[in-house]
Amino acid sequence: DNLRLWGARFADGPSEALAALSASVHFDWRLAPYDIAGSRAHAKVLHRAGHLSADELSRMLDGLDLLLADVESGAFTGTVADEDVHTALERGLLERLGAELGGKLRAGRSRNDQIATLGRLFLRDHARIIGGLVLDLQQALVGLAESHPDTAMPGRTHLQHAQPVLFAHHVLAHVQALGRDAERLRQWDVRTAVSGYGSGALAGSSLGLDPEFVAAELGFEGGSAGNSIDGTASRDYVAEFAFVTAMIGINLSRIAEEVIIWNTREFGFITLHDAFSTGSSIMPQKKNPDIAELARGKSGRLIGNLTGLLATLKALPLAYNRDLQEDKEPVFDSCDTLEVLLPAFTGMMATLTVHDERLEELAPAGFSLATDIAEWLVKQGTPFRVAHEVAGACVKFCEPRGLELSDLTDAQFAEISPALTPGVREVLTVHGAIASRDGRGGTAPSAVAVQLAEVKADLAVQ
Ligand code: ARG
Repeated sequence: DNLRLWGARFADGPSEALAALSASVHFDWRLAPYDIAGSRAHAKVLHRAGHLSADELSRMLDGLDLLLADVESGAFTGTVADEDVHTALERGLLERLGAELGGKLRAGRSRNDQIATLGRLFLRDHARIIGGLVLDLQQALVGLAESHPDTAMPGRTHLQHAQPVLFAHHVLAHVQALGRDAERLRQWDVRTAVSGYGSGALAGSSLGLDPEFVAAELGFEGGSAGNSIDGTASRDYVAEFAFVTAMIGINLSRIAEEVIIWNTREFGFITLHDAFSTGSSIMPQKKNPDIAELARGKSGRLIGNLTGLLATLKALPLAYNRDLQEDKEPVFDSCDTLEVLLPAFTGMMATLTVHDERLEELAPAGFSLATDIAEWLVKQGTPFRVAHEVAGACVKFCEPRGLELSDLTDAQFAEISPALTPGVREVLTVHGAIASRDGRGGTAPSAVAVQLAEVKADLAVQ
C-alpha cells in the first residue's frame, strides 16, 4: 500500500474499519479544482526557492493541467482507498508525471495548511454565488413593492392589527434585512481573504518558501496568515460563514411564514403562481405553498449546521486536530441548501398575485387608527398620557357596539371626551394615517419612495 501519504513508519496498513471512518474523499472531492490551483501556486513557489528547476516547474504545471482536465471530465476520480482529496490528487499526479518529479510537490506543505486554505477558496466562491442569489431575491421583492406602491395593509405587532402601513413598506423591510445578509457575506469575504499556505503542519516551512507569493497567486487580497498555528487551526471563518448562511435562512423563513399565512383563505392577501405551488395526492382542490414551507424547514437545517460546527470547535486545542475534518460537510450542505432554495423562493415571490382590495379592506380593522386619535390629540395640546386614555376609551366604546372608530358620530366623540372635536375625523382614514408618517423610514408614500430609491441605488452597485 504505497498510496497513503504517511505509511513509512507503519508496519501494518490501516484496518478496514479505520479506513472507512477516516475517509473524506466522498465529500472533499469537490475541493479538487481548488487543490490543483493550490498545487500550481505551490509548484511556483518551490521553483522560486530553488527546489524545482525551470524545466521541472513547466512539466509539473503541465501535469497539473492534465490532471485538472481529467478531474473535470471525470476521467480521474478519487476513491475511498485514497482517504482524502489531497492523497487522491497526489496519486493522480504521480500517475501522470512519475514518482521522481511528482514526488517533489509535497515539499514544504502539509494537508493541514492545504485544507485550511482550500476551505477558504471554496467558501469564497460560494459566498459570491449566494450573494448573487440573495441579490436576485432582493430585486424580486423590490419589483413586488414597486408594482403596489399605494396599497395599504394592516401592519401587525404580536400578529395583531397594529397600524396601517404600505404593502411596499412591509416588503422593503425584508429587502433591508437581506441587504445586511449580503453585506455580511462581503465583510466575511474580506476577513477570509487570507491564505494558510506556508503554515505547513503548524510551524511554517524551513524551505524558504514565500507565503505571500502563494497568497497573491491564489487571489487572497489579505495576504498570508500572520501565524502558522492559527493558519492551520482556525476555523472561525467556517463558523462565521455558517452563521451568515443560517441568518439568510432565518430571514427567508420569516418571509416564508408570512407567505404561508397570507396565502390562507382567511387572510386572502396573496395567491401563489401555479408554477411555484404544489398539489395534494388525495385532495384535488389543494394548492400548497411548499416552497415557503421548505424554506421554513430548511432554516432549521442551516441552524443545525452552525451549531454542529460550533460544538466541533469548542475547547479544541491548537493546532490541527482531525476533528477539523468535520468542518466541511455542514457548510457544503449550507451552500447546497441555499443554492437550491433561493432560486425557487425568488420565483415564488416574483410571480405571486397580491389582492390589493383585500389588503385595503383589512387595513383599518382592529381599531388600527387608535394611535392616530391619540397623536391628533397631542397636536391639539393634550398630554400623551391623557390622549392615550381618550383613544383607549374610544376603542372601549366601539368594541361592544360592533363599531369601527370611523363610525363614531360627533356626539359620541364628544361624549367620550370634549377634546374630541369633529376635526379628529381627518386622521381616521387609512391613507391619511399612512401619509402622516412621513419622517425618514416611515410608511408615508413620500418616505417609502425615498427608501425605494436608496435600496435600488444600493442594489445597483452590488
Ligand atoms: N482531511 C483532513 C481534513 O479535512 C485534512 C488532512 C489532515 N490530516 C491529517 N492527518 N493531518 O481536515
